[in-house]
Amino acid sequence: MSNNIKTTAVIMAAGKGTRMKSALPKVLHKAAGRTMLQQVLHQVRAAGVDEQVIVVGHGADEVRASLQGQPGCHFALQMPQLGTGHCVQQALPKIPADTQAVLILCGDTPLLRAETLRQMQEQFAVGLANQAADKPLAGLLLTCLLDNPTGYGRIVRDKSGSVQAIVEEKDATAEQKQIREINAGAYIFDYPALQKALAQLDNNNAQGEYYLTDVISLLAQAGLRLDTVQAADPLETTGVNDRVQLAAAASELYHRKAEELMLSGVTIINPASCCIELDVEVGADTVIYPNCQLRGCTKIGPGCVLDSDCLITDSEVGAGSHITKSVLNQATAGQKAEIGPFAYLRPGARLADNVKIGDFAEIKNAKIGNGSKVPHLSYIGDAEVGENVNIGCGTITCNYDGLNKHLTKIGNNVFVGSNTNLVAPVSVEDDAFIAAGSTITKTVNAGALAVERSPQREIANWGREKSPRALNNKA
Ligand code: UD1
Ligand code: MG
Repeated sequence: MSNNIKTTAVIMAAGKGTRMKSALPKVLHKAAGRTMLQQVLHQVRAAGVDEQVIVVGHGADEVRASLQGQPGCHFALQMPQLGTGHCVQQALPKIPADTQAVLILCGDTPLLRAETLRQMQEQFAVGLANQAADKPLAGLLLTCLLDNPTGYGRIVRDKSGSVQAIVEEKDATAEQKQIREINAGAYIFDYPALQKALAQLDNNNAQGEYYLTDVISLLAQAGLRLDTVQAADPLETTGVNDRVQLAAAASELYHRKAEELMLSGVTIINPASCCIELDVEVGADTVIYPNCQLRGCTKIGPGCVLDSDCLITDSEVGAGSHITKSVLNQATAGQKAEIGPFAYLRPGARLADNVKIGDFAEIKNAKIGNGSKVPHLSYIGDAEVGENVNIGCGTITCNYDGLNKHLTKIGNNVFVGSNTNLVAPVSVEDDAFIAAGSTITKTVNAGALAVERSPQREIANWGREKSPRALNNKA
């Protein structure tokens, strides 16, 4: 960390989250594309704290699996869950021995900013540097002034303003409930002082739990000092305990993401109507119209237009592309793609540059070469399409025989007439033509015209003499 104080983070993520009324552990609920736990971890790392102990308990395997492969993550198990103090006690054996300070956070506070964590670290370092010999600094807490502090622990100070204790809502007297300064659930402690205080915790309180917050009064009673950092933005300290708070947190994260993109040169016509998840990247001078949703690890290049109502998930789109009212999922498009309105690009759709996919066209597991067009009413699945190919309206690849999927190969400069069925496996070689309405079951050779239709025949005067209407008129 920045101040050369070796800091380890402890993230409490063992609780059940009863108020979520969910089979999923609370910290695995997502806000703006990241689980709350991932988001907290992200901020911890952005604040320069590289080692973390995640305390898991309820749904431990699921929570561990959600962070698989993440560097610097150690796990501790809290079973059963006897409160936040008990939780941190379980983390102690996993904290590296050379740790000087412990940053403790809740896994359910996804709005905490990395800057705030950095500010806490800096102020803690300043506090350590300015120690009063008779009252050494033991820790620092993030607090916040709330108009409605209901549900949070209250910060109790003495007449001189020194922090004396945190009192939980359920244990607070009527007078203490009037206190508007609350505990945000984020702390930095001197490691030896924390260890000592944790060893003295008891569970004599309204909830019968070992409260981490009791560490504060124990340290104060031992004559140690506790500093505070007050969060400027009350939203930042929101602890998500139910789904109403989850929705509020997600909406704030979407708001922040949109703001970050706009400041980096992206135009968003109506940010409140768009949901752009936190890991999405968008290039400068791209314009995003209302009601677009960009999810997962989507990357949109510079100078694109996402016209209204696009839903784009885990997809990449190159510079200068134009997409209107379309759905893309695990698809890629090169530069200057023209997609939609009403196109559906499914997993494995890979468009080269200058490709047009028009209305009601569905592309799945298919490569479409440079300059090729699938302009209307088509299904192209399990296919390799070359360059400068025109796929006529209503063409489909018949890729599925009821058991297996088969490949359709189309070379360069091919013209596929409207309403063609390509029965896979089948190849159409370079420069070939297919007459409209054909059902192609065999290779079409390079440069050839394939026609697969019965010859048209006529019955003269049938309409005037033999049609039901004609017969009716005669009767
Ligand atoms: C806690 C604080 C409260 C503070 C609030 C801020 C305590 C006693 N109270 O209350 O002062 O204002 O956070 O949001 O600490 N957890 C475990 N193991 C447990 C219990 C909880 O890992 O045995 C985890 C939960 O998964 C959660 C976090 O600790 O991520 C906080 O627990 P929660 O039950 O939400 O505490 P609050 O009642 O919100
Ligand atoms: Mg909470």
